[in-house]
Amino acid sequence: MQPLEPARAQTVEIAGKTLRRLGFGAMRLAGPGIWGPPDDRANSIRVARRAVDLGIEFIDTADVYGFGVTEEILAEALYPYPEHLLVSTKIGQVQTRPREWAPVGRPEFLRHQCEASLRRLRVERIDLLSLHRVDPAVPLEDQVGELKTLQDEGKIGAVGLSEVSVGQIEQARRIVDIVSVQNIYNLAVRTWDPVVDHCTREGIAFVPWYPILAGGLVTGAGVLTDIAETLGASPAQVSLAWLLARSDVIAPIPGTASTAHLEENVAAAQIELSPEQFTALLETPTTADVPA
Ligand SMILES: NC(=O)c1ccc[n+]([C@@H]2O[C@H](COP(=O)([O-])OP(=O)(O)OC[C@H]3O[C@@H](n4cnc5c(N)ncnc54)[C@H](OP(=O)(O)O)[C@@H]3O)[C@@H](O)[C@H]2O)c1
Repeated sequence: MQPLEPARAQTVEIAGKTLRRLGFGAMRLAGPGIWGPPDDRANSIRVARRAVDLGIEFIDTADVYGFGVTEEILAEALYPYPEHLLVSTKIGQVQTRPREWAPVGRPEFLRHQCEASLRRLRVERIDLLSLHRVDPAVPLEDQVGELKTLQDEGKIGAVGLSEVSVGQIEQARRIVDIVSVQNIYNLAVRTWDPVVDHCTREGIAFVPWYPILAGGLVTGAGVLTDIAETLGASPAQVSLAWLLARSDVIAPIPGTASTAHLEENVAAAQIELSPEQFTALLETPTTADVPA
């Protein structure tokens, strides 16, 4: 891992926009198991609007969340989108059961999904479209090549990837400019450290999903909770502050369907970890369970 000082950038460049680094993940606006609509649609709409009111400038979603329902909810809540807001979506997976997804990367299917997302989001161009997973049954060149074609046709502004290695990023960059990489990453799961370092060197936005381990980092004991207590913050906030300190290109997208949690998460951007706190968190890998 690269030698580290806490990162301090307030903003990150993604898809031609300068954005506050703490974003919002819309997956939790779908129903239980991300399997269809939420029980309380009005609440999901309220949370999406509150995110923008609180100054969030980057919202992540995917066509597959609730069978398109989060894209519809974002459009209902926020269309016409404010100029400074980046609404990004992802394609390349199908949902087979609650909380179970499988990659499908055949070019004609990617094109179909892109067209469906354009309609649900009510836009003529998706500013940032990511390949949700690389389908191992389809050459990466064909999947990324289709995104490049969609970009050439003006249906996509910029292209991102998700759950990819450094090798796959570089393979894709030979075909099209890659502006963001969305991999699982948080205080407890740091498998993708080499990708974070690569993105930092290359100036590619790194968007950690499960930034608070799907809620697994909101309680517990140890360094995280000790530092949280010292700062008068919650462990979830310190986890997010640590991600923001980990690299200037990191843009976390914590997800929630709760206005109170949203407000708490947004406030984490104001927390400045000292170099000692940052290093203590870095050197003490946290263990936590992902909630069911
Ligand atoms: N690229 C990919 O493959 C991929 C995979 C998964 C997710 N994502 C994206 O990443 C985003 C973030 O992931 P995620 O939503 O699964 O996980 P997360 O942000 O790590 O955690 C969200 C979970 O934690 C709870 N939570 C949020 N803030 C909290 C707080 N301050 N205190 C206590 N609990 C809190 C939420 O419940 P409440 O609703 O009760 O707050 C929710 O269950 C998603 O929304 C999605 O956009 C991408």
